[in-house]
Amino acid sequence: MDKMGRIRIAGGNQLNGEIPISGAKNAALPLMIASLLTSEKLVLNNVPRLADVRQLQLILENHGVGIGAQNTPGNKGLGGQTLAFSTPAITNTCAPYELVSAMRASFWVIGPLLAREHGARVSLPGGCAIGTRPVDFFLDGLRALGAEIEIDEGYVVAKAPRGGLVGAKLRFPKVSVGATHVVMMAATLASGTTIIENAAQEPEVGNLARCLVAMGAKISGIDSPRLVIEGVSSLHGADFDVLPDRIETGTYAFAVAMTGGNVLLAGARPETLRTALDVLELTGTTLQEEEGGLRVIASGQRARAIDVETQPYPGFPTDLQAQYMALMTRSTGTAKIRETIFENRFMHVAELARFGARISVEGQVARVAGVIELQGAQVMATDLRASVSLVIAGLAAKGETIVNRIYHLDRGFENLEEKLSRCGADISRLAD
Ligand code: UD1
Repeated sequence: MDKMGRIRIAGGNQLNGEIPISGAKNAALPLMIASLLTSEKLVLNNVPRLADVRQLQLILENHGVGIGAQNTPGNKGLGGQTLAFSTPAITNTCAPYELVSAMRASFWVIGPLLAREHGARVSLPGGCAIGTRPVDFFLDGLRALGAEIEIDEGYVVAKAPRGGLVGAKLRFPKVSVGATHVVMMAATLASGTTIIENAAQEPEVGNLARCLVAMGAKISGIDSPRLVIEGVSSLHGADFDVLPDRIETGTYAFAVAMTGGNVLLAGARPETLRTALDVLELTGTTLQEEEGGLRVIASGQRARAIDVETQPYPGFPTDLQAQYMALMTRSTGTAKIRETIFENRFMHVAELARFGARISVEGQVARVAGVIELQGAQVMATDLRASVSLVIAGLAAKGETIVNRIYHLDRGFENLEEKLSRCGADISRLAD
């Protein structure tokens, strides 16, 4: 993939039509990793075609996972592949730096490897540059299940006790999606019962838990902050659907709010992003839940300024903070946006300023004073969600916008230009 790819947008068009919502990246990744827990075939439907998914395929293949594509009718020709994962034997319990550093979530293989093979050597992760993102909760959680853990030259070396991991009661000091995924996966094959307190309640955690149950795991308390996992000796195959992407849903909803128009977000599940949608309605956008998804209707008038604070689910998602900030750049007032999950997630502020946005940052709080009109600009994508906030700004800005370094977008948004241009946006990828 061309790391220096660019997107050109001529702003000002309203969005009208239908956008099919893809399977969630953040659900697909842990589900793919769960395939390591069984020697049987795990079939996943509605897997988005994204760079992060392809990267994780490479990582899984390195451990001995065979991956095959299966034909499905698809999602109106735009998205959704069905992939089958088979791991009769794990051939390698080491996840090397070269593979893991490209994407933080690949670190999560440590849970299944440790549970099934009783040992793993996994490079410390890389991923989006949005704060320090340590792995202490993962390691403490796995230690609680009896693992011995050392750090050796940038690698986490984990060993289960003789006979495998042992169920335990643990409490995460802070909500962590990744640590919940990992300890839950590891606990499915531990002996005895594991209780996870202060577990993440993100819909993607529920999606993984339900897939594990379909594979024979015994989990109760799904969607609550207290997961109870009774270990079983082995898991079997399953056929499971990836949840529709709530972050993609919110992103396009904010885009329509910004440009004006009328778009059906097909297949969206509004109940998975209630807080963000409530905020959007307060800003003046009309939302209608329909059988086929969520309809977003907006006049294109400037939005009302509403303050927001990111929180773990069911709060306002940090993964929509940058997109919401883009919407607020043209509000009629001043919005205070507080980021509480990551300490360095305002990189988009400097780029939004290139459109003429007026934003000041003090610690974890950004104050966005709405302007009447944004001006198209040359901007640079910095991380996944920040990149798409620049696209949203560009769609509404006067004149031409060029978003540079869009490889971040390809990590997380399937067919972004097609989806938007079908609804009337003037957006294209520049080949250079
Ligand atoms: C997941 C999502 C990401 C989203 C984030 C928060 C995926 C692939 N990624 O990331 O898009 O922004 O949830 O909703 O699903 N922390 C520690 N120690 C740890 C683990 C986490 O201090 O061992 C901290 C992090 O630095 C952060 C907070 O906990 O401040 C939440 O992070 P976490 O929920 O773990 O995020 P991810 O699972 O990496």
